[in-house]
Amino acid sequence: MKRWLWVITTGYLLLFSFSFVSGQPPKPPSKTPELLGLGKKLYDQNCASCHGPKGDGKTPLGSALIPPPRDFNIPLDQWPHSKGDLKKVFDAISKGIPKTAMVKWDQLSERERWGMTYYVMEFAKPKTPKKK
Ligand code: HEC
Repeated sequence: MKRWLWVITTGYLLLFSFSFVSGQPPKPPSKTPELLGLGKKLYDQNCASCHGPKGDGKTPLGSALIPPPRDFNIPLDQWPHSKGDLKKVFDAISKGIPKTAMVKWDQLSERERWGMTYYVMEFAKPKTPKKK
C-alpha cells in the first residue's frame, strides 16, 4: 500500500495552500492618479470629519476624541501605528485601531482602501518613504 505517499502528498499540498492563503499579503495596486483621485473622494466623504480635509486632525469632532485623530502631516516614520509602512497604513484603515475612534472600513473595497492609503500618506511632510 502506498498510503503513506498519499498522506504525505496531501499534507504537503494542504501546507502549501495554507501558506499561500495566509502568508501572501494583498499586493498593493500601483499608485496611479486615478487611484489617488478615488482615495481623495472617499477620504473627503468618510475621513475628513475626524482627520480634517488637510489631514491635520484639527476638526471639531476630532478635538472631542481621546486619543485625537492622527495628524497625517507629520513625517511618515513618526506615525504611531504604522511608522509609515504602506501595508500597516492599509491595515489600520482595513481593521481599525483598537481602543480608538478609528473603526475598520472593510465595507469599502480593497481597491478603495488602497486609494485612501496612498492619499493619506501624501499628507506626510516631509515625505520619508521607507524602502521595503
Ligand atoms: C471618528 C473619527 C475617525 C474617522 C471618521 C476616521 N478616523 Fe482614522 N483615526 C482616528 C483615530 C482616533 C486614530 C488613532 C489616533 C492615534 O492613536 O494615532 C486614527 C488613526 C488612523 C490611522 C493610523 C495612522 C498611523 O499609522 O498611526 C490611519 C491611517 C487612519 N486613521 C486613516 C483613516 C481613514 C483613511 C479614514 C476614512 C476611511 C479614517 N481614518 C476615518 C479617528 C478617525
